[in-house]
Amino acid sequence: MQTQEQTDIMTQEVIEGLKAQPKYILSKYFYDDKGSELFTQIMHMPEYYLTDSELNIFKRYSRQIVNSLLVDSRPVNLVELGAGDGLKTRLLVQALMNQGVAFSYVPVDISEEAIVQLQSKFKKEFPGLEIDGKIKDYEAGLGDLQHDSSSQNVVLFLGSTIGNFERKEAVDFLQMINQKLKKDDILLIGFDLVKDPDIILKAYNDKQGITRRFNLNLLERFNRELGADFDISNFRHYPLYDPLSKAAKSFLLSEKDQDVFFEALDETIHFDKWEFIFTEISRKFDLPTVNRLSKDAGFSVYRNFANEAHYFIDSLWKKLE
Ligand code: AVI
Repeated sequence: MQTQEQTDIMTQEVIEGLKAQPKYILSKYFYDDKGSELFTQIMHMPEYYLTDSELNIFKRYSRQIVNSLLVDSRPVNLVELGAGDGLKTRLLVQALMNQGVAFSYVPVDISEEAIVQLQSKFKKEFPGLEIDGKIKDYEAGLGDLQHDSSSQNVVLFLGSTIGNFERKEAVDFLQMINQKLKKDDILLIGFDLVKDPDIILKAYNDKQGITRRFNLNLLERFNRELGADFDISNFRHYPLYDPLSKAAKSFLLSEKDQDVFFEALDETIHFDKWEFIFTEISRKFDLPTVNRLSKDAGFSVYRNFANEAHYFIDSLWKKLE
């Protein structure tokens, strides 16, 4: 459950987005408990190659990743932003244990359900693991970094979540992480690479309609939490791939002229027939763009780990100074 303050911010941001031209909804609102559960289902769909690709990287390279992130023998403070179900991180945790590294694991997620489940699963699988899950957003989660030099911070930001930020937002966010790190601290960050646009589009337009439900859950969430009266059968999930911006983009398309009332605000929002609401950008990357991003945010790329098909990389960055 959200605090009243979070609900007030959500109310304000949702109304602002739906009154804008063109209309938009911030993609962070996908992830209530229902949305997080749907996203977990997305990660297991055959079309959503991103998860398997990144899992393949961790299967191939966990040992090398651990070797590359150890600067010296200080204990590691492993902080994962948006940990979800920890599917990939399991392999890294296992490798850290196998290599006898002293570390603690701080998974951070805004979904309470996700953290409770992950924590109980990891405690069973890795008895003795020092794990301290936090139900927080990314920025608050960065408060769990260590500032003294007795341990080394390693931040995980996997899954190509950075692709959900516009370029300027991405630089600002990565600079913010950088400012909270010490020299030689590490950021391990996932990037989905540019590839056959048909493969990309299918990942956001699956046959079973799970991504459709994920997108429409935004409106259902506003019905539940903001007392809105969206009739979701009047909206269509509309994903596309834009080769110019190298991004998959998702929209909700209003199939009717319609009014939606928000009880929480005593406001009515009008949707024209064929009006779009922009709900998500998922940018895809090439290596020069990754390099530029790391420099702009004050990091240097230490090593890239790719899956066999070269669909995805996890890029290991060090804070320069
Ligand atoms: C979390 N993020 C990286 C996902 C993506 O691929 O952009 C969210 C998602 N949206 C639809 N499918 C998956």
